[in-house]
Amino acid sequence: MISGNGQAAMTASPTQVVKVEAPLELRGLSRAPEDTWDTQRRFVNLSDDDIAAMVATSEIMLRNAADFVVAAYDHLRHFPETASILGWEQEVDESHLEERRRFFAVWIARTIGIDLSHDFARYLYHAGRLHAGHGPRQIDVDDMFVTGTMSLILDAFGSWYREARLDAATATRALTGWNKYLLMQLQVMLDGARAARAIDEGNIAVTVNLYGRMRAIIGRQSMTIRMDQGDTVGDVLVKFFNYYPEARDEALDWEWVGKTEDATWLTDFERVYTPKKYWTVMLNGKDVRFQQGFNTPIQDGDVVGLFPPGR
Ligand code: HEM
Repeated sequence: MISGNGQAAMTASPTQVVKVEAPLELRGLSRAPEDTWDTQRRFVNLSDDDIAAMVATSEIMLRNAADFVVAAYDHLRHFPETASILGWEQEVDESHLEERRRFFAVWIARTIGIDLSHDFARYLYHAGRLHAGHGPRQIDVDDMFVTGTMSLILDAFGSWYREARLDAATATRALTGWNKYLLMQLQVMLDGARAARAIDEGNIAVTVNLYGRMRAIIGRQSMTIRMDQGDTVGDVLVKFFNYYPEARDEALDWEWVGKTEDATWLTDFERVYTPKKYWTVMLNGKDVRFQQGFNTPIQDGDVVGLFPPGR
């Protein structure tokens, strides 16, 4: 029997006891980066004409890119707030500066090459997670400066075109394309940062343990997620799969489900995720299907395990 709140219960008859499983449904997961990427691209209509205009300026971009990497970090080290974020108020850590420039050079190379792949979307999402203090140096970069850097990049592109005496029509068309493309990037980076900040918000802590291929996909065996009192196993999984959208395909299936009986429009539907066949979610070693499913409440110090088939 499933009670009104979705709780599993034992149904007893004079002759048998049947264990009924609670439903396992995850709602409210954010868009995966590749979905945001494609949707934004369609929404802003980054067209073949835009891309052709951007490509037409490739030589100018290539000539200036290396100097720009240096100039960008000069700006960040001299602007007091960003110097402080980077820990460079007193003195610049040269090896860190060199590392940052190297990473930024990779980013600008992919950008000038107008990388529209899903891999790039995932890379940007990851950059967003790192910006939220989740990188090896645990530096938390205020979103405002990431947004501002995008403005400075567009500013730099415009000045390169002026210096190269590019005709106004080509320059305008190319800048229109860069503007669309860079803001697509910004959105994905900010989404990654938001998902990472959510991991650190809450007054209790839960450990999520991972097994099998999941470890290889996300590159770790366990993680700590901060939650609020009264949260459920489902809330933990939403934070986990928002932080690691790349793990969804491994463990979850999904389908569009109408939010109401008479759902008609696209916005009336939502993606509802369920564990793939034979995947098990345990809370402190007990299968949540035989508790209250994903509605099972969590406590400080609890351990959630995500088990693939065969374990
Ligand atoms: C358009 C703006 C920006 C872009 C495209 C960008 C790009 C990136 C990328 C791709 C990474 C990840 C590198 C990797 O693969 O490990 C990264 C990390 C990082 N970025 Fe940015 N970034 C931007 C703005 C900023 C700003 C404004 C700051 C500082 C004020 C900053 C500081 C950092 C730091 C410190 C890390 C590494 C964090 C760590 O390892 O702990 N970034 N950025």
